[in-house]
Amino acid sequence: MDKKNRNVLLKFTVAAVFLMLNVTGCEKKENPFPDDVGGQIFQGNKIVNVKCSGCHGALGGGGMSAPKLLDYVKNASSEEFVETVIKGRGGMPPFDGLLKEDEVLQIIDWLKKLPS
Ligand code: HEC
Repeated sequence: MDKKNRNVLLKFTVAAVFLMLNVTGCEKKENPFPDDVGGQIFQGNKIVNVKCSGCHGALGGGGMSAPKLLDYVKNASSEEFVETVIKGRGGMPPFDGLLKEDEVLQIIDWLKKLPS
């Protein structure tokens, strides 16, 4: 390898390390759920904030256009909840291919943990 190539490689490595530090830095947000072993509930909270709150409101409390997820999680089974999210229904867009079943289960865990 000549000197120029080695320089390019070095710069690339430095940039990659910085990028990795940045990404893990963002993940290091404090988990507000103290007994949340493995961060399962916190993860559900993050998914809802990014993908559901626009319609369902913060903390799944119901928005302008979509019902309260908190009510639904109490009345429906986990299977029904997962099916509704993956397949969609009425004004609810399908999340097939966008969310894994595991991630929907994380949302359910988180919702069940919220005070109603
Ligand atoms: C574009 C707006 C929109 C987004 C984004 C959205 N939803 Fe919905 N959702 C709706 C609407 C509207 C309904 C009511 C559907 C109907 O019955 O007509 C609904 C219904 C539901 C229901 C059934 C609730 C009930 O009481 O019947 C669940 C569960 C649900 N959504 C979960 C989610 C989850 C979890 C996310 C995020 C991954 C999400 N939704 C994102 C609009 C949205």
